[in-house]
Amino acid sequence: MCGIVGIIGKENAADILLQGLEKLEYRGYDSAGIYVTDGQGENHLIKSQGRIADLQKKITGELTGTIGIGHTRWATHGRPSERNAHPHTSENGRFTLVHNGVIENFEEIKQEFLQNNSLGGETDTEIVVHLIAHFSKTAENTKTAFKQALKVIKGSYAFALIDNQEPEIIYVAKNKSPLLIGLGEGFNVICSDAMAMLQETNHFVEIADGELVIVEKENIQIEDQKGNLIFRESYEAQLDLNDIEKGTYPYYMSKEIDEQPSVMRRILEQYTDEQDQIHVEASVVAEAAECDRIYIIACGTSYHAGWAGKRLLEDLAGTPVEVHLSSEFSYNMPLLSEKPLFLFLSQSGETADSRQVLVKVNALGYPSLTLTNVPGSTLSREAKHTLLLHAGPEIAVASTKAYTAQIAVLAVLAAAVGAKKQNPAASVFDLTAELSLTAAAMETIVDEKMMISQLVESFLSDTRNAFYIGRGMDYFVSMEAALKLKEISYIQAEGFAAGELKHGTIALIEEGTPVIGIITEEATAAHTRGNLKEVESRGAKTLRIVSESLAGKQDQLIIPTVHPLLTPLVSVVPTQLIAYFATLHRGYDVDKPRNLAKSVTVE
Ligand code: F6R
Repeated sequence: MCGIVGIIGKENAADILLQGLEKLEYRGYDSAGIYVTDGQGENHLIKSQGRIADLQKKITGELTGTIGIGHTRWATHGRPSERNAHPHTSENGRFTLVHNGVIENFEEIKQEFLQNNSLGGETDTEIVVHLIAHFSKTAENTKTAFKQALKVIKGSYAFALIDNQEPEIIYVAKNKSPLLIGLGEGFNVICSDAMAMLQETNHFVEIADGELVIVEKENIQIEDQKGNLIFRESYEAQLDLNDIEKGTYPYYMSKEIDEQPSVMRRILEQYTDEQDQIHVEASVVAEAAECDRIYIIACGTSYHAGWAGKRLLEDLAGTPVEVHLSSEFSYNMPLLSEKPLFLFLSQSGETADSRQVLVKVNALGYPSLTLTNVPGSTLSREAKHTLLLHAGPEIAVASTKAYTAQIAVLAVLAAAVGAKKQNPAASVFDLTAELSLTAAAMETIVDEKMMISQLVESFLSDTRNAFYIGRGMDYFVSMEAALKLKEISYIQAEGFAAGELKHGTIALIEEGTPVIGIITEEATAAHTRGNLKEVESRGAKTLRIVSESLAGKQDQLIIPTVHPLLTPLVSVVPTQLIAYFATLHRGYDVDKPRNLAKSVTVE
């Protein structure tokens, strides 16, 4: 959420910033800006409402400068506008700043320190640059002024600051929001995500919360809150530029849907030993086998994956599981069991709602495990254990391959814990074989995507609302299917437990309301079919996604039958394609839906 880039020590700073911002656009895309200086008094501040492409259009001449910072915004305080876009400058133009996060006490800061400033914008960030300028009047240097400001500020932040009087430094600080330093030869960069600067370097240094970093072209200096110097090794980013390009695909979402079968195979490769047996780090399995209850904590799509994970862990590992929304958990914490294990599901590993639960869990001294796609992410660093999803970078805002990767890795964990606990259900479940079959089944659906496109064109044309219904695993997938449809096509969609409709919601069914039923479980198939009949009798038009073994002539979307514990991996694929094509047919941007951003780093 919001992306930051910075560069010091390269001739074409503006180009590098713009390229970096394009890579970070998934983090927010309502406005953007860059600031570049040559250190000799030639300074350029260019901002624009809209996308990076809109910002690029505003740049007509050459922007000379070897140092600069840039920002792509997802508005929290203040509507998207050029005025509210970052970078922000102090009144005298000396300081320029970009920010990712939320300053919680900005009103108090304004009252206490900035009564005499004229503040034109509506953002919390603007307050910070004025506060630094305010302290600089009495502080011995900019570092001290920056530190004084950091002491006053409450909230989450990643800051990059340039002082025109010291144009050989970018000052950087972070708390809760992600920020990395990239190391080059004769230059250094900063970025919210390594992929933004991969073209320049693949060596990065992490910054911990509360640290301040002085970034110069040949050197970086990290200080903790007490002013102690910190020496930290760099690491090599395991990212390939090809993984973050769209290739021949029109949208990342389409590429990422197609990648799912290979992600399943990669997960098997990563989590099997030489004898093709499921293998998970012993300490993780031991921790999960010893706990008396697993609390899955997640948001959005990851939360939906958690429900499928509950079934897997309870069936295969025999451990009770509760699934909770991160944003609700801390404030409605249930009575905990005696030996809980907290399992954080997060594609990005940066989600603020989940992180605030992890901070509490750590403070209470309970063990935690993060399943994430991003090695080195905050939730990974701060949890006791990590299991990686190995899905490759997910760039489309709507999550697809991370959802299926989460369920697959949860299956791996459940199988490994079940084996350790000698749970009979685990001993008769051959995950390696079943997941391979599942990958092939996903491939079959992906290959038939044009048929789904045609189906969607008539089925979802012009509608303002739609329902997905199912029972058990099919209900869990219905929730995810509805989220996917609404977030990108803007069709108001609800994922409903099929049996629950008649208890109230059926009142919303009218002539032509689209209702999609998911039917993959033998035990519930007849009931869900009955529920579809009930809505048809009230005018709904229905579409059935049905496993081959349960399918009848009238069913429109037949999907291969796989092991009952793995059906979400297959049944979700047509629903992802339905959302994708409904959005294409409506002419919206599939990868960058309105109001959203990937990696939600504010609570
Ligand atoms: C929807 C989507 C979101 C995320 C949610 C959690 O397509 O992507 O609902 O699943 O914001 O994000 P992570 O998994 O990064 O914690």
